[in-house]
Amino acid sequence: MSTTNQDLLTRRANAVPRGVATATPVFADRAENAELWDVEGRRYVDFAGGIAVLNVGHRHPKVMATVKAQLERFTHTAFQVSAYESYIELAEKLNALAPFSGPAKTIFFSTGGEATENAVKIARAATGRNGVIAFCGGFHGRTLLASAMTGKVLPYKAPFGTLPGQVYHLPFPDADVTVEDSLKMLNFLFASDIGPEQVAAIIIEPVQGEGGFRTAPTELLKQLRAICDQHGIKLIADEVQTGFARTGKMFGIEHSGVEPDLVSVAKSLGGGMPLSGVIGRADLMDSVPPGGLGGTYAGAPLACAAALAVLDVIEEEKLIDRANSMGERLKARISTWQNRKDLLPISAPRGLGAMIAFDILDGHGSTEQRAGFASAVCAKACEKGLILLSCGVKGATIRILTPLTASDAIVDEGLDIIEQVLAELA
Ligand SMILES: Cc1ncc(COP(=O)(O)O)c(C=O)c1O
Repeated sequence: MSTTNQDLLTRRANAVPRGVATATPVFADRAENAELWDVEGRRYVDFAGGIAVLNVGHRHPKVMATVKAQLERFTHTAFQVSAYESYIELAEKLNALAPFSGPAKTIFFSTGGEATENAVKIARAATGRNGVIAFCGGFHGRTLLASAMTGKVLPYKAPFGTLPGQVYHLPFPDADVTVEDSLKMLNFLFASDIGPEQVAAIIIEPVQGEGGFRTAPTELLKQLRAICDQHGIKLIADEVQTGFARTGKMFGIEHSGVEPDLVSVAKSLGGGMPLSGVIGRADLMDSVPPGGLGGTYAGAPLACAAALAVLDVIEEEKLIDRANSMGERLKARISTWQNRKDLLPISAPRGLGAMIAFDILDGHGSTEQRAGFASAVCAKACEKGLILLSCGVKGATIRILTPLTASDAIVDEGLDIIEQVLAELA
């Protein structure tokens, strides 16, 4: 008998610890662009894109071709042993795209967590300071320093004991927190816990991803930039989820016009290959002595080859424009559900470009989120053939991360399923 999802779930439960959670009970067999087939041959529309990794879709032909060509030449040397041109070329391309003026340099790693941690290492080396300021609801990875910077206790921090110190959190502006509130807390922090001259970096997502697709107000980013300039603090834009056309610009921070000092990137850069990096002002990037940065697999040849193709695809297929048109389509449709009494109550859609989310609310006319309920919506969507993810500090947010290469027909098919789910769960 052929393998079933249920067989694999049982084997998984016995062989793999529960600490790595999986959003769906579906085991992948193959995938193309914005569609995935499970081991039982069932087809799904993919609105998750491997958690914001597949802006160019599953197995983009151009990405496949460059990876295959690289596979024929070599798969690994370690950049620290024998370097290769694709790493350099990719760094050159990202330096040219860097969302700040002046010379840039780029270094590569494998995961988003490595990128955010290394951005902090670089900021610490450049400033000779320790402190890091992050935001409540932010997510920067699961390694120890990244967990410390992440602004959510459960499930990311609670069981892991003492996390690396001198990491502080500010409230992120939202319905009940203004930009002034956040900045006031920063002043309290400077007075009570850590002086600004001890802070190496402020790290912020231009749009919080796991935290609920909440856009950082431009005014906040501007003020943070000014405070960083005043005190010699480095501003890190964590673009791991927002990068590479998702928000309707190459980088999310570009919406604000604010220029960061360091940018952490990952996810969609590699088009499905594990690749991350830090793009930064050249003088900062050179503050770490040789050997202080890197990793055995960091900037692996197959991943660099894939990323070069990803950047070409973003340009050739005008995916920045596509993110904006897809986002408008998503928002227009979701807006029509907002006041329908036959559907679950939801908030207005929000987000930039094609990084769109909405909240499940407590009741029609309420603005309170229905805590924890988004996972029920996603589970029902999966039963109906749509892979959909939740997010948000309260677990009440549905997030849409459809590949930017998806057709309008696929987008509409996924939206039809969400509408059916909102009707059935109403
Ligand atoms: C903004 C942001 N930073 C960092 C990370 C961590 O990336 P990774 O899971 O590849 O370590 C994520 C992952 O979701 C993210 O969204």
